Amino acid sequence: MFALVDRMGSLPVTRLFAAAIVSLAFLSIGFASDPAKAAGANKVVGPNACAECHKEEAEVWKGTHHFTTFRDMPRSKEARRIADRLKIKRIKSQSLCLGCHFTTNSTRKKKKPLAGVSCESCHSAGKDWLKSHSEFSGKTEQTESKAEAAERWRQSEASGMIRPAAIYKLAKNCFGCHVVPQEKLVNVGGHSAGSAFELVSWSQGEIRHNVWYTKGKSNAVASAKRRRILYVVGLAVELETSIRAVARATKRKPYAFEMARRADAVRKKLARAAKAAPKARELSQIAELGHSAGLKLDNSEALLEAADKIALQALALVGAHDGSGLAALDPLIPGSEKYKGKPAKPATAAGAG
Ligand code: HEC
Ligand code: HEC
Ligand code: HEC
Ligand code: HEC
Repeated sequence: MFALVDRMGSLPVTRLFAAAIVSLAFLSIGFASDPAKAAGANKVVGPNACAECHKEEAEVWKGTHHFTTFRDMPRSKEARRIADRLKIKRIKSQSLCLGCHFTTNSTRKKKKPLAGVSCESCHSAGKDWLKSHSEFSGKTEQTESKAEAAERWRQSEASGMIRPAAIYKLAKNCFGCHVVPQEKLVNVGGHSAGSAFELVSWSQGEIRHNVWYTKGKSNAVASAKRRRILYVVGLAVELETSIRAVARATKRKPYAFEMARRADAVRKKLARAAKAAPKARELSQIAELGHSAGLKLDNSEALLEAADKIALQALALVGAHDGSGLAALDPLIPGSEKYKGKPAKPATAAGAG
């Protein structure tokens, strides 16, 4: 017990964790923002279907860890150790691993992994919006009216498509995997309890594929104003996700401590951002909400309520700001030297959409 407390250092949450151990083991599977569920596995068309038109994007994706995990993760010794601790025989047929490492499709009774983390893990399963988003309302790019285009995008989004403009939804998917909000996987399996994920630096390195509207001629970094919104929405979603993760914790073990530590660290960052950019009033609200429920076991009702309110404020923030008035945030935002992995140079424009 003492070792766990020591890991928390002098964080104020430490003592709160002394709360009774609750036993809700049967509730600890599944998590609210399960990316596998969000993707709707029976509506997954697979990355090859996207690549029919989005060749350049697919090329970029093939250079990422999201692509290589399909082949490499199941073969790694670490994966075998995790699987053994969880008594999992075949990693690729275990839904516990499938949800975050693979894109699965479940047309028949079985779930079938098709690829690593791919297009639809982030933009959502495509079956219901694939046609609508790409067909220019049955006309051509030149003859479709503005109103028709607006209606086409409205329809595609209503059918689940997550467009680059939907920063909150995009971020929910990233953090839903990268915080690793799965108690048993961490406590029993010994899987890492998330990594130092930050939305600007992790989306602008190897992941970056801004190659569609430039027809593969360039792969520019997100604009300064977009990076500001990515940064603060990333913090808000990290707080929301880690608070939900604490709410679901049932044992005083590494998972609970790691999630609480993460929530505490990110609410401090949010407080700094709120101070730097008082114009974005949603930020101080979010920072306050981060303190509105104790980061302790057996407090899920209050924690989930706080998380829901943070989600609403994050959405309000995206609606109210395009980032152009928030230059005061720039000193806080990671620069290109922090980008995770190398951004791809676009391939030759040959074959670009
Ligand atoms: C039949 C060709 C085609 C296929 C297949 C296709 N797309 Fe597209 N996609 C397009 C076109 C065309 C556009 C741009 C429409 C425009 O300019 O208004 C587009 C735009 C996009 C955008 C940018 C949306 C925005 O807000 O600017 C995303 C993201 C996207 N597609 C993802 C996908 C994914 C993921 C798949 C596979 C599930 C896919 N597309 C399959 C043709 C296609
Ligand atoms: C909740 C999402 C999630 C689930 C479920 C999950 N992982 Fe992971 N896993 C991740 C993330 C995210 C990383 C990358 C960590 C980072 O950000 O550097 C990772 C990294 C790993 C790594 C180290 C990198 C590598 O590929 O060698 C191994 C091994 C691994 N996971 C195995 C597993 C196994 C086995 C299972 C199923 C028992 C599993 N994971 C389930 C999210 C998940
Ligand atoms: C890890 C999540 C993720 C994956 C995987 C992913 N995307 Fe994206 N996609 C994004 C994000 C985030 C953006 C916005 C990028 C930015 O802000 O710099 C984006 C932007 C786009 C755009 C707009 C590009 C432009 O020129 O403006 C298209 C089109 C697109 N994605 C299609 C795809 C296709 C097709 C695949 C699969 C081959 C794919 N994406 C895989 C997250 C993802
Ligand atoms: C479906 C789950 C899932 C989603 C959604 C997801 N990731 Fe990942 N990501 C992973 C896993 C698993 C790995 C580790 C792959 C490996 O190394 O085996 C990873 C690895 C990465 C890496 C490479 C890290 C390294 O070690 O170099 C980056 C960068 C990254 N993700 C960024 C993003 C961004 C940005 C988003 C959202 C736009 C995102 N991811 C969404 C599961 C996910």
